Amino acid sequence: PSSVGILACELYIPSLYVDQSALETYDNVSKGKYTIGLGQQRMSICSDHEDICSLCLTVLSRLLDETGVHPQQIGRLDVGTETLIDKAKSIKTVLMQLFVDHNNTAVEGADNINACYGGTAAIFNAIHWIESSFWDGRYAVVVMGDIAVYAKGNARPTGGAGACALLIGPNAPVVFESGCRATHMAHVYDFYKPNLNSLYPVVDGHLSVQCFTSALDTCYTQFCTKSQMNHESHTHTHTSTLTSREVNLSTFAAVLFHTPYVKLAQKSLARLYLNDLIRACPYIANATTEKYKNLDIRTLVNDKDLERDLVEQSKELFEQKTLPGLYFSQNMGNMYTPSLYYSLFAFLISQPTEEQLYGRRILLFSYGSGLASSMYSVVCRKVHECRFTLAQLQRSIQRARNRLDNERTALTPDLLDKLLLEREENDHTVPFIPKQPNETLKSGDIYLKSIDKNHRRYYDKF
Ligand code: ACO
Repeated sequence: PSSVGILACELYIPSLYVDQSALETYDNVSKGKYTIGLGQQRMSICSDHEDICSLCLTVLSRLLDETGVHPQQIGRLDVGTETLIDKAKSIKTVLMQLFVDHNNTAVEGADNINACYGGTAAIFNAIHWIESSFWDGRYAVVVMGDIAVYAKGNARPTGGAGACALLIGPNAPVVFESGCRATHMAHVYDFYKPNLNSLYPVVDGHLSVQCFTSALDTCYTQFCTKSQMNHESHTHTHTSTLTSREVNLSTFAAVLFHTPYVKLAQKSLARLYLNDLIRACPYIANATTEKYKNLDIRTLVNDKDLERDLVEQSKELFEQKTLPGLYFSQNMGNMYTPSLYYSLFAFLISQPTEEQLYGRRILLFSYGSGLASSMYSVVCRKVHECRFTLAQLQRSIQRARNRLDNERTALTPDLLDKLLLEREENDHTVPFIPKQPNETLKSGDIYLKSIDKNHRRYYDKF
């Protein structure tokens, strides 16, 4: 199979949100800390009839309905999440409810768990299946989602929620570029969830940002080196006259990151620009690169003055390549596993027509605390003899964007506190019946109806 990639997608938009400037006032922090300092506008919240399974069920069911793909045509389903409600039973098995009436139980895949990285791990599994000898010609689906909530305190404004389903197969309009991927994995305690009775992570916020940044450096260096090596070996084996081609920020139309908050994405782009400065990449004037020539990137993780200077210098690059991908993150918050993919979606609808996307390459950086990180790229293309097009992807994303802009309900920060307190109290309390589903449910949403005394969860379609 060639051109394996994303054929179609479906996004979940939680119906409730909290305004970050209202949260600043309520939390009694200085005005601008969340909206300017973190760059966030709104944060998605889930109500008590939304749990991780209801989010995943909803996007998968909508993906099948909207694309018309028959459940029997799905041969693999991988889930990425860190919102765990069971230590053994995977969410994937819960999703099998959508296949039972269609007599398809032959669906490989299970859950992938490592903080915000699980979605990427799930995508890699889907790609590998399609490229393997075990592929039976059917589609793969990846579902990823999280409800990100933090204990009261400085991390709370970096919460959020979201979920998405991706239909994956050959001859796709958004192709996972083959042959080059960078990965950096290590053992650190920057953000983890050791307390199985708590909704909240244990987080060393500043350490997590440092780990994120050095993982970014490592992946970018590895990615650039590998692409160049691939390019050179390719040109040798084909006795081509192509000169070696360096990969740098100018190679990509978009550069997107896992986005815990918008400001970190901006700093990350600035960080990659610093990498390019140190390497004296040809798209930057010699006079500019001179000053950075002998710097060692590893010693520059906590240099705030340098960071500010680079954010300023790379402002235009940020506005071209990263900002168009931040709309969902800015208005929904950190969605953990799907966060990076919402950036991809936002970028895809930042271009008015599909023609403007043809041939554009996008660099993606995925980070999950603990830590697991990878960098890879996708390319947009015009498809031939395939009913899944870029224009259709854009329409699905635009529908979600319309829900985001027009159909959400604001929650005041005191109600957010109340809702989270109730959730802390009810966490794993059984039996449980959510309050009557309210007008926030949309037709086609799958919601949590009840949890019985044996912790079995029941869902219904609205
Ligand atoms: N106006 C404008 N900017 C302000 C204001 C203000 N009034 N007040 C503060 N700021 C700026 C700060 O200068 C700082 O910017 P800088 O980093 O560029 O200097 C920014 O706002 C944040 O302020 P801090 O004091 O650093 O914030 P705090 O320490 O309270 O919390 C943190 C930030 C660590 C990100 C916290 O929210 C957190 O722990 N979040 C969860 C962990 C996380 O998201 N990690 C990211 C990678 S891992 C993952 O995805 C989970």
